[in-house]
Amino acid sequence: MGLCASKRNIVDIKKKLPDKETRLTSQILCDSLSLAVVGNGEPPVENGQELYQFLFKIDPRMQSHFLGAHEFMGQDPKQNTRFAKQGQRLLMSIHTIAANFDNPEAFDKNVSDLIKRHEDRMVEPGLWKLFFPFFALFIKTKGDLTPIEEDAWRQLGDRFNSVAQSTLKSMGMPYEED
Ligand code: HEM
Repeated sequence: MGLCASKRNIVDIKKKLPDKETRLTSQILCDSLSLAVVGNGEPPVENGQELYQFLFKIDPRMQSHFLGAHEFMGQDPKQNTRFAKQGQRLLMSIHTIAANFDNPEAFDKNVSDLIKRHEDRMVEPGLWKLFFPFFALFIKTKGDLTPIEEDAWRQLGDRFNSVAQSTLKSMGMPYEED
């Protein structure tokens, strides 16, 4: 299962394409993810922690699932907190999902596994639909998204929710009609 290529590779890919908008949707998504890189350095740690703070603020139902989240909200996302590793796990997962968007088999398997790993977390089914619209808002705090990038994130969010709800249904868990 692939990950988004590094920024340098994305620039190379673009150079080879005659028309920028002939990019695959996964390339468009990966390209916009250069605004939220993943890794061990300072910007990635800050990105991951900022993302959690953003999600907890925009919807307190997200926060309610995480121990220590209340204290974390008052902390500087530049500092290494207990959300540093979790932030990278979340970003890494988002990068993988985005990179596999044009490979339906890999995408569906990845999302379905993710939902199964959240079985004990008692996530309200409606939150799966909201996650990627929230994430697109988060990226927009980092830089501009073109209409094509916004549309790519909307497509990903729709597919993600559809696979999430059908996985919940297959597990006999509460789910929402698509
Ligand atoms: C929709 C609302 C969501 C809630 C409430 C939620 C909640 C949680 C919680 C409570 C944990 C355990 C954290 C810990 O051990 O301290 C967790 C782990 C994790 N979550 Fe979520 N999550 C959500 C959505 C997502 C999404 C959309 C992704 C990926 C795109 C994701 C990726 C992960 C990953 C990678 C982990 C680490 C463990 C694993 O790989 O399963 N989560 N989540």
